[in-house]
Amino acid sequence: MRRTLIAGNWKMNGNQAANALLLAGLKEGIGASVVQVAVCVPAPYLFQCQAALSATAIGWGAQDLSVHAAGAYTGEVSAAMLQDFDCSHVIIGHSERRSNHGEDDATVALKVNAALAAGLTPIVCVGETLAQREAGQTQDVVSRQLDAVLGTIAVEMVGRLVVAYEPVWAIGTGKTATPEMAQAVHAILRERLSAKAPAAGAAVQILYGGSMKPDNARELLAMPDIDGGLIGGAALKAADFLAIIHAAG
Ligand code: PGA
Repeated sequence: MRRTLIAGNWKMNGNQAANALLLAGLKEGIGASVVQVAVCVPAPYLFQCQAALSATAIGWGAQDLSVHAAGAYTGEVSAAMLQDFDCSHVIIGHSERRSNHGEDDATVALKVNAALAAGLTPIVCVGETLAQREAGQTQDVVSRQLDAVLGTIAVEMVGRLVVAYEPVWAIGTGKTATPEMAQAVHAILRERLSAKAPAAGAAVQILYGGSMKPDNARELLAMPDIDGGLIGGAALKAADFLAIIHAAG
């Protein structure tokens, strides 16, 4: 049985005062949820999350990491640094990194390996653009993106992945894939994972991301291969994020 994971992607939002309110709201409202919860925050706020969340069931993590271990890489943050702040998760290959920072499949694979080596759980993002969907390329695109990672890791590592399907056209747009559209892609991703590692592939959490909100979370999460959500905009308000968590279980 896969445990549901609701992960927040704060993107480049927040400040210490606003974060303190948001984190306090989450701690207060989370109750005895059986859902696994994590927030992926800008690197400067990892210390604040560590201080606020250490004694709670809420995990925290980052939105990117360096392929390098240490050294002369100005501006980069290493896997060991994330580990130093007790991060549980790190988002890798988000479409905003792929399109704004030129991250290709090979770079994403290197980052996943860096995260795994440091004991972090990578949330590997895949997803097609609107043009790719309209050209009938969705299956090819997401398979290529996931296979690029699977081709570089040992079979024993498959069970340590989280995968997030985020159709680019649904991110921050208010347009959500229908549950059936999302499930169809999640089933393809499950098939790729299971082809590499039959038992572990069946246990990998596959999240949906792209305008998941309190009012559409329940129907998306009801699909057999949708094991959680990667939440952007709705993760910035405690009430909305909590509503999604409570919709999940
Ligand atoms: P959104 O973002 O929920 O604001 O669409 C999701 C994401 O980009 O991870």
